[in-house]
Amino acid sequence: MTRVVISVGGSVLIPNLEQNRLKAWADALINLTKAGIQVFAVVGGGGEARRYINVCRDIELDEATSDEIGIKITRINAMLLIGALKDYAYPCAAESYSEAKQFALSGKIVVMGGVTPGQTTDAVSAVLAEETGASMMVNMTAVDGIYSADPKKDPSAKKYDVLTPQGLIDLIMKEKMNAGSNMVIDLVAAKITERSGIPLVVIDGRNPALISDALVGGKFSGTVVGEKIPKFPIV
Ligand code: UTP
Repeated sequence: MTRVVISVGGSVLIPNLEQNRLKAWADALINLTKAGIQVFAVVGGGGEARRYINVCRDIELDEATSDEIGIKITRINAMLLIGALKDYAYPCAAESYSEAKQFALSGKIVVMGGVTPGQTTDAVSAVLAEETGASMMVNMTAVDGIYSADPKKDPSAKKYDVLTPQGLIDLIMKEKMNAGSNMVIDLVAAKITERSGIPLVVIDGRNPALISDALVGGKFSGTVVGEKIPKFPIV
């Protein structure tokens, strides 16, 4: 069975408590399941995690404990997505990679949040892709691809259709030099992508339907990171 790990940014799942895209995300993931794909969704913490982590900074909490609080928020978001997926999801959020693999034996969509301090859910997705032998890792956040610089700050930034894993690592290292830079993917995830050889695909998560358009419909728009370029549709 084709396995895919999808990193769902908290900011595109629940932009704020007045506006959420849970039902649209559930529909998009259910479409993949119906097409015969084993889906693993790794959910981020979004604005809520950032707000809680700011409170941690305010009370001078150490970084690792602040990360633990961030992880709890990602798991709350994971529970909400499970709720929206109803019977299509395994009924509880996996808290480790081994649990995720075990839950996948049910054939249902497996949802999880963060795992361990010092990283983000992008790294969780990259490790999970390696552990499950996924054919692809898809990163869905509030951008339509990877750019040479932050397009909000630099109007001359250009979007890449394809990047090598080393090209992505170089880009992250360059951006790290710029204070306040916000890369689409973190360095740990980029390094795991390089060693695993599993292609990483960046698709605009503000429109959840774009994932089934690409994976099932063959209409892809975004950035592919990898030595081997995947063919769309993948099933
Ligand atoms: P996210 O993965 O949501 O971080 O985790 P992010 O970069 O803000 O991602 P987007 O914006 O949703 O795409 C939220 C926080 O939870 C902690 C970190 O503190 C992270 O910033 N976390 C998450 C961990 O410490 N370990 C994990 O495995 C996951």
